[in-house]
Amino acid sequence: MGVLSIGSQPIPIGLDIATDHVRAAQLKPSGSGFLLSAYGVSDVRLGAVVEGEIVDVDAVSASIKELWRRSGLKGKDVAIGVSNQKVVVRLIDLPYMERTELEGAIQYQAQDYIPIPVEDAILDFQIIGDYMTPADEHMMEVLLVAAQRDMIANSVAAVEGAGLKLSRIDVTSFSIVRALLGTGEFVLPAEDEDPTEAVGVIHISSGLTNIAVVEKFVPRFTRMSSIAGNQFTQAIANVLNLTFDEAEALKIRAGLPDIDGTSPASDDPAVRAAQDALEREINKFIAEVRRSLDYYLTQASQVRTIKRIYITGSGAQLTNMGSYLAKALQAEVILSDPLGQIQIAPSLRDMVFADRMGSAPAIGLAMGGAS
Ligand SMILES: Nc1ncnc2c1ncn2[C@@H]1O[C@H](COP(=O)(O)OP(=O)(O)O)[C@@H](O)[C@H]1O
Ligand SMILES: [Mg+2]
Repeated sequence: MGVLSIGSQPIPIGLDIATDHVRAAQLKPSGSGFLLSAYGVSDVRLGAVVEGEIVDVDAVSASIKELWRRSGLKGKDVAIGVSNQKVVVRLIDLPYMERTELEGAIQYQAQDYIPIPVEDAILDFQIIGDYMTPADEHMMEVLLVAAQRDMIANSVAAVEGAGLKLSRIDVTSFSIVRALLGTGEFVLPAEDEDPTEAVGVIHISSGLTNIAVVEKFVPRFTRMSSIAGNQFTQAIANVLNLTFDEAEALKIRAGLPDIDGTSPASDDPAVRAAQDALEREINKFIAEVRRSLDYYLTQASQVRTIKRIYITGSGAQLTNMGSYLAKALQAEVILSDPLGQIQIAPSLRDMVFADRMGSAPAIGLAMGGAS
């Protein structure tokens, strides 16, 4: 979706401005798909990006500059994603009208649906489809995106401060969906789709979790949560009185215990204490995901269940996370590879594979710029 698109000529570079990293992915058309021709990751100073919002523009610009310097990226046009409390996505029903007419009308229609004053918002929309009501009214379903102008201005400033040009802004979770599920019908046969089922996509990073629901390849719902990898680590640090870095290492070593208890409990008390802390956090996490999915289901017209959930993001690698989610949400949970839809230049493989599960936003942003 050309969300908040500014218009561009060459394929922009996907630039993921995350909580503790910036990442860039450059794609080239190759056959019927894409080749990843450049990729890079660089650190972001702690506190520069908080809950998905850039609070220290200069620090983020410096990280982006460093990223370009290190990874030999050529272009200057970038596509970024936004995911924070200041961007909202709503699926709304409006009386049917032509696209051009809606472009003029959306400004007046939007305020009823968004918490941001419309004069402070940048709006975009995608027409999902149209239908007839039982009373024979012609209606349309529209995915409305509203982003607060000042928040977007910070993103523009961070990009321009690094000497780059912003050519496209996307909703981050839409780019994650694109990286995992592709850009259209050619990826999965449409006949596989049951109209009463939708698919969930969950990306767990350090500071944020992005949740999306996809119906017929179109994301229709998205929510973000700050329950993510850092919170899991912090819980362990608090319980065991460890530094964040110590807790991080223990988290990765301990993981969650086997959900069915088939493996014997660890005889390391630190591991057991970490697992207890993780179980408590995972239960909060599951409650958050469930609230989002339930909310979506109350809004959906046809969909009754979410039977399949794709999880990705480095944080999704927590041992046994998938089985906890599957059991609690009664769904098939699949750890999903963001690199599954693309080819990768041989010289990049080691570096890209090291960041494999974290790569979805950057890859999907680049794919969105190409379509
Ligand atoms: N094997 C693992 N088990 C559990 N958590 C992991 C594992 N590998 C990475 N993580 C977690 O993933 C998070 C980092 O995700 P990342 O994709 O780097 O986030 P960001 O996009 O914000 O840079 C951290 O919380 C880290 O602890
Ligand atoms: Mg990171």
